[in-house]
Amino acid sequence: MSDDLDTQAIEILQKNDRGGYTVPTARLYPYQWNWDSAFVALGFGTFDRARAWTELAYLLEGQWDNGMVPSILFRHDDPDYFPGPSVWQTQSAHTPQPPMPSTGVSQPPILACVMRQLVETGGAKDLKFAEELFEKTLKWHRWYQTERGSNGVVATVHPWETGRDNCPDWEPGLTAMEIDSELEPYQRMDTKHANPEQRPSKEQYDKFLSIVKFGRESLWNQRKLTDEGPFLMADPGIHFILLRANKDLLEIAQRLHKTEAAAELKSLIEQGEQATNYFWNNDIGAFTARNVKTGKFSNGLSNASVLCFFADTGTPQQQQKTIEHIQRVQQQVKFLMPSWDPTADMFDPQRYWCGPVWPQMNYLISMGLAEQGHNALADAIRDDMASLIQQSGFYECFNPVSGDGCIGVDFSWTAAIWLAWASPNRQRLAA
Ligand code: GLC
Repeated sequence: MSDDLDTQAIEILQKNDRGGYTVPTARLYPYQWNWDSAFVALGFGTFDRARAWTELAYLLEGQWDNGMVPSILFRHDDPDYFPGPSVWQTQSAHTPQPPMPSTGVSQPPILACVMRQLVETGGAKDLKFAEELFEKTLKWHRWYQTERGSNGVVATVHPWETGRDNCPDWEPGLTAMEIDSELEPYQRMDTKHANPEQRPSKEQYDKFLSIVKFGRESLWNQRKLTDEGPFLMADPGIHFILLRANKDLLEIAQRLHKTEAAAELKSLIEQGEQATNYFWNNDIGAFTARNVKTGKFSNGLSNASVLCFFADTGTPQQQQKTIEHIQRVQQQVKFLMPSWDPTADMFDPQRYWCGPVWPQMNYLISMGLAEQGHNALADAIRDDMASLIQQSGFYECFNPVSGDGCIGVDFSWTAAIWLAWASPNRQRLAA
């Protein structure tokens, strides 16, 4: 059965390959997505190294002059997707013009972590590919600090930038903002391709689009969007991933003998370490999202809260409390690690980021736990992921209680994560 699933996973990646870049799934997501592509490269890396690096190079082709790598690259206009290039209008960005139509926000910078994985499991050729992408990747990390830095933390201007689109984490920021009274009428497409009950609500969507309107009217001046935009929250997901990505890029810099870049990365890491405590929510005893405008924390544990191990940050006590949370949640659901605490308000096992298990998140969480010596939990998370895929197939995400697959089918990152990490044959595949 595992061999069949390996074959199926390879076929999914090949079917979703659009020649140099891979769509997350046909129809629902018809473009190149930022962090999806990075995970996809891990999957290609198990059977076609050159194709893996091409995926990453294509992603960086969309990089803006200021260093931002957008969340979606619109290499063509697909009328079946909303909101597409005509809504974002990033080609009218104040200066200079972005290389291709894209969104005007970024996504979690997992790229450097994937580059390091490919370098460590590969040979001299992989290091050469990494060298070609190095400067652009560093420029993107720098962008987070200069354009999204606020009160000592790297913040985010839009839930879409976090990759965890409608997690209840964003409630403090969304509740505090108004829907733009001049928001143009619009027609959603996501609810045509997926069950509306598993997708964001109308009010959330109105707010998501109000932020886009602000960005568009500010001609995508990123500093203005951060300082004056309607939404500004700190996301433990972006924080922990960026901190880890800086550490992984430092590792690559050292292999390439880039001393100046290494010194810069050490300083970015230092700033990141100092920001970790900003996310500590004493009421819950965990790292959670926080509204930078008001200081208010979100009121639940998410799967991003437990990425502190992946970033190797936080005090021993904070890490211990986080382990206890994971153990508690393990008693409450059948499959780890749900995207939202099953005991918190708004938990919904089928709804986007309000409960479902996400393959790419499980991979990062488990890797971090294993690195910090929490092997039993790390293995449980991997075993749960493998069982979910064996039981339901290559879905976008999964119900943590029933194990049913949710939303997109034949999903690229699920196939990639299977090949690189969850498949019982992963060692053979990686060889
Ligand atoms: C959804 C997810 C986001 C992902 C995108 C494409 O918007 O929330 O994380 O990148 O789909 O798969």
